[in-house]
Amino acid sequence: MKTIRDMNISGKRVLIRVDFNVPMDENGTITDDLRIRTVLPTIHYALEQGAKVILCSHMGRPKGQRIEEYSLKPVAAYLANILEQPVILAPDCIGSESEAVVAAMEASDVVMLENLRFHAEEQGNDPEFARQLASLADVYINNAFAVSHRAHASVVGVPEYCVEKAAGFLLQKEMDYFHRSIDNPARPLVAIVGGAKVSSKLGALKNMLDKVDCMLIGGAMANTFLKSQGYEVGRSKVEDDLLDDARALLEQAAKKEVKVYLPVDVIAAENFAADAVSKQVTIQDVPAQWMALDVGPATVICFTEVLADARTILWNGPMGAFEMDAFSRGTMALAHAVGAAHALSITGGGDSNAAVKKSGEADNISYMSTGGGAFLMLMEGKELPGVVALEGQ
Ligand code: 3PG
Repeated sequence: MKTIRDMNISGKRVLIRVDFNVPMDENGTITDDLRIRTVLPTIHYALEQGAKVILCSHMGRPKGQRIEEYSLKPVAAYLANILEQPVILAPDCIGSESEAVVAAMEASDVVMLENLRFHAEEQGNDPEFARQLASLADVYINNAFAVSHRAHASVVGVPEYCVEKAAGFLLQKEMDYFHRSIDNPARPLVAIVGGAKVSSKLGALKNMLDKVDCMLIGGAMANTFLKSQGYEVGRSKVEDDLLDDARALLEQAAKKEVKVYLPVDVIAAENFAADAVSKQVTIQDVPAQWMALDVGPATVICFTEVLADARTILWNGPMGAFEMDAFSRGTMALAHAVGAAHALSITGGGDSNAAVKKSGEADNISYMSTGGGAFLMLMEGKELPGVVALEGQ
């Protein structure tokens, strides 16, 4: 993969697509800066080379409208603080005012363009919008792994108009870690898959069957698998239309000699609420009107044993409703088990990363991916449009 290091960017206008779609609280305070900190090496490198650094990103889903709450203003301020230099926020991402801001730049200046998604043309991959964005730069760098699964103008359109294009260090690192975990991994390779829905992970589960030695399935999606095996799961979240797929997947796993572990016990609650009455039950004993909101202690012991032997671990999705303390024990215990494992461990997805952070194990995980949908797309065995767009240089 060609990277920013392979080109001469000195004095050039370098447009870096980043993913600064960071979580913020109601006061506009950034609550997790992983996606900002991880692009710093590329920005520092470009500044050291004397490039004019133009950053572009989306924020949220403003649906083509200019909505102040989705402005990148707080991110520009946050970045200026870390870089200890001004970050000028352009009033828009295209148009004469933004062109004027870029035209006034000097070497090692940093400009941030306003939210790309204030224009519907970004998500529509409009060629004229892409051409206008590209006209601001001499060089295009994709450093936005987390949005590289989207065929949007700034991801796949702009590189068509830029002769000089390459990956930033974050995109390169993300791809390297993922491929290290999947191509010729140290074995056993264990995938932990959790979260709410089987439907969003079916493709990844199917593809992973050809790669992994073991799969641990938890979270609400485990209920669909359990029901497909004849267990009554009460009022737990189940995707009834996917029972056949779940059953077929387990049959395929058996044929491929992939060991799939489902919960053997759960924490069941009367309601989906932090203060709901709850109890630990085996999966044979989930009361008819209750719902499973976490994996139980016996499951944790079993999953922990599997992880203790693992040499490579890929984790996407929590084991339960971990945002509520009463239902966080399973996910926290797994995070500790992953942290303690003598394995290359990679987590992906906002929820898994938040869980790792909450558990205090972040420093013990080999790599926390900044991607959610992009990470899942790789797990599905697909190529990322944003990576493909950099090829053929
Ligand atoms: C993400 O948060 O996964 C990326 O920023 C992509 O955002 P999107 O799902 O709104 O395209």
